[in-house]
Amino acid sequence: MQLYVIFFILLFTSSPLVSSSRILPKKPKTAVLDVAAAIAQTKHVLSSSPKTALPANHQQKTDSPFSMQLHTRTSIQGTTHTDYRSLTLARLERDSARVRSLTTRLDLAVNGIATSDLKPLDEAVVEFGAESIQGPIVSGTSQGSGEYFSRVGIGTPPSDVYVVLDTGSDVNWVQCAPCADCYQQADPIFDPASSSSFTPLNCKTKQCMSLDVSECRNDTCLYEVSYGDGSYTVGDFVTESITLGSASVDNVAVGCGHTNEGLFIGAAGLLGLGGGSLSFPAQLNATSFSYCLVDRDSDSASTLEFDSAPPPNAVTAPLLRNHEMDTFYYLGLSGMSVGGELLSIPDSAFRIDESGNGGIIVDSGTAVTRLQTEAYHSLRDAFVRGTRGLPSVNSSISLFDTCYDLSGKSSVEVPTVSFHFPGGKELSLPAKNYLIPVDSDGTFCFAFASTASSLSIIGNVQQQGIRVGFNLADSSIAFVPSTC
Ligand SMILES: *[C@@H]1O[C@H](CO)[C@@H](O)[C@H](O)[C@H]1NC(C)=O
Ligand SMILES: *[C@@H]1O[C@H](CO)[C@@H](O)[C@H](O)[C@H]1NC(C)=O
Ligand SMILES: *[C@@H]1O[C@H](CO)[C@@H](O)[C@H](O)[C@H]1NC(C)=O
Repeated sequence: MQLYVIFFILLFTSSPLVSSSRILPKKPKTAVLDVAAAIAQTKHVLSSSPKTALPANHQQKTDSPFSMQLHTRTSIQGTTHTDYRSLTLARLERDSARVRSLTTRLDLAVNGIATSDLKPLDEAVVEFGAESIQGPIVSGTSQGSGEYFSRVGIGTPPSDVYVVLDTGSDVNWVQCAPCADCYQQADPIFDPASSSSFTPLNCKTKQCMSLDVSECRNDTCLYEVSYGDGSYTVGDFVTESITLGSASVDNVAVGCGHTNEGLFIGAAGLLGLGGGSLSFPAQLNATSFSYCLVDRDSDSASTLEFDSAPPPNAVTAPLLRNHEMDTFYYLGLSGMSVGGELLSIPDSAFRIDESGNGGIIVDSGTAVTRLQTEAYHSLRDAFVRGTRGLPSVNSSISLFDTCYDLSGKSSVEVPTVSFHFPGGKELSLPAKNYLIPVDSDGTFCFAFASTASSLSIIGNVQQQGIRVGFNLADSSIAFVPSTC
């Protein structure tokens, strides 16, 4: 019997008379949201205590030569919030700062101004050494980067520290002794004197010359990175050994930051995963890397892997580059659908134009996907039409203008939201990647938002539970629905 069924399917699918739209398995038009589980998770995250001294990432069983564990911000730092709504509002505020920082940096790149050239006169100037690399000083309250952290070893012997993982920037750095100005971090500050592999870079090296902002002092290279939201790091540009699990890489160009301000609260520094030549994957000569982001409220870990092939069931899309901004990973998106109906969004909404504006990037550090206003309205209106049966909440909640009162329900059926890629490929999101709780009382919001910028961003709420692979060698992005 089974054989006949298989034979019939083969016969049917191989028939040239059958149009491709009919043989493609139809994706379900609706998805089920487990409301009760989502609410339970909001209560769990408030009561869980942070994991302080996590061991340096245990090598997990993967076929990747380099693999490291990823942890969510709350699993490491815990939270001081006593209710989930205030935690959500704080996250959304941080998210807005993140998006402002990405769009500011792109605007500056497109308009040909380096970020550090912007020096508001009324702000103090950082003095570092005899001369000065200047940067604005702001209070540490502006927070943006980093909802996901990893633990790496730096130096020889390795000192283990937490770093923020950031696909939105390239330069790797850690806070470094002696500190002219360091923010508070969980681990001891890295001391170059304790490492035999610490080597300052000469100004003529290609690493130093690849920096956007550098300065030469006594023939050694100084770096500065500003993140566009007031946070920055300044110090010596050096090479060091970086240890991930049991593997170590020598001579990685990293910033030894003596003056650091802003966002990275708790982490010792940052691992740049962007598309530029100074990023960690570029320095590893990695042909690909992938991550799987666990739910933001989960205290389980997932992995970041380098050079591991995506599985055959991956949905792939073009990875595009912007000649004005080699850091960002742009996605070749052809459309979006709600409940199986393609939205009428003009192609231009997702295209990079000649000046380097527009397009849509995949970012690990942004939480909520941002779309150009018209595209967002088209998406939201279709979702609202498909959820007429659900009790709505009238008011906006921070970024969100479409919310529901699902209290008392254990699960609901909602229209499927999908991304469409060239070649008829489709990635359907799980319902919990677009209808998220904002409190513990059953208020859920549609987790997309509009942006006034021309740059659209696919955020980590939409990427959760999906392995996202950046294939640098063949310029594609792979999505593998999995469970991390
Ligand atoms: C520059 O190098 C010389 C010789 O190594 C040293 O004496 C001097 O202190 C250095 N200057 C600075 C600003 O580091
Ligand atoms: C990456 O390639 C460059 C240039 O071929 C080489 O110098 C460097 O050692 C390589 N790095 C690693 C980690 O293999
Ligand atoms: C929601 O808003 C509509 C129109 O603004 C109003 O008529 C209605 O009374 C409001 N409902 C609630 C429950 O506030």
